[in-house]
Formats: sequence, C-alpha cells, structure tokens
Amino acid sequence: MHKDFSKNCRRCKLWKHRTNVIFGKGSKYAKLVIVGEAPGRNEDECGRLFCGRCGEMVDELLKACGLTRKDVFISNACMCRPPNNRRPKNKELKACRPRLRKTLKNIGQAIIVLGKSATQSILKRDYIEWGRMYYKFGKPVVCLKHPGWLLRNPAYYTFYEAEFKQTVKSLLSVNNEVIKFLNKKRWKKRSEEHTSEL
Ligand code: URA
Repeated sequence: MHKDFSKNCRRCKLWKHRTNVIFGKGSKYAKLVIVGEAPGRNEDECGRLFCGRCGEMVDELLKACGLTRKDVFISNACMCRPPNNRRPKNKELKACRPRLRKTLKNIGQAIIVLGKSATQSILKRDYIEWGRMYYKFGKPVVCLKHPGWLLRNPAYYTFYEAEFKQTVKSLLSVNNEVIKFLNKKRWKKRSEEHTSEL
C-alpha cells in the first residue's frame, strides 16, 4: 500500500535528486524494527536500503546478536537520498513521517533508532540520551548513534557492538510476554516467509 502510494512521491523536494525511492524492508512479523536516517549514494543507485558500508556494519552488528536482516524490519526516516549525503531537513523528515509512523505502529514490538535525524523524526525531541529506553507507539525505543559515526570512529566499534547487543537483548525481553499474550498467532509464523517492503 505504501509502496504504490510512495514510488512517485513528491511530498518533499528530495524527489528531484533521487534515482530510487528506498522502501523499508524485512519481515512484517519481525519483533525488532531498525530505523536509519536516509539512503546514501549506494542505496539510491542500487535501490535497496543499507547496501553500502553502513549496511555492512549493520549486518555485522546483527550477526553479533545472532540475527540477520530477515529477522528484523529496517527502514529509514527519509525514503529519498538528500543531495551530497547531507542530513535530511526538518521538512523532509516531516514529509516522510506519516509513512514511518504507520510502519512503526504496525510492525515490531521494539524499535532501535540510529542517529539524530531518525530520533528527531520519531521522538520529536532535540535532546535524548543515547542508549536510554523511551516509549513510543506503546513500544520500547532505544536511540543509538548512527553506524556512519562508527565508520568515522572505528576505535569505538567494540564498545558500540557491546551496546548494540545489550540493547537488542533488553528490548526484546521488555514486552515479549505481553506481545505474545496479545498476539499469539502472529508469532507462530516464520519471519522468512513474510518478507515485505513498506
Ligand atoms: N543507508 C541507509 O539506508 N540508511 C542510512 O541511514 C545510512 C545508509
């Protein structure tokens, strides 16, 4: 539904620069949703999110948690690449927010937000504590620095990976039982069988 609605999206000026609209991707039955900032050059060219160096890092971090992309749903605060990989402007985040909110309301039981732009878009706060648990859409949300920062500060990788692992562990344990109780059937389905784009 989002896909058809958005592939010709012109709700902000980013359409003028993009090659592709990059939709969120993963299992709609995923417990964990990860939200990045916006597509970069690689993503814009190849039409898939997190396919460049940041993507490799996200894959490594997931692997450290015993997960793959099929186990999670990944999306971005903006679906189109900002020119020169600049940060998305507020009006661009705002234009993409209804789509993101819908995804976050419908998918997952916990959310990891990567970086300031996605944090602003979801929590609408100028100041947040990295690694602290917030709640939004009735789900626990933890904001971590964007992996792009890690590419510029590789010395922090071990520290970041440990924090990422701890975050995944605590997020998935928060309301596992509650969600299971509310929606027993849903969790019985296997993630891989339900990969979708939103
Ligand atoms: N690629 C994405 O899809 N999102 C980011 O935030 C960074 C790179």
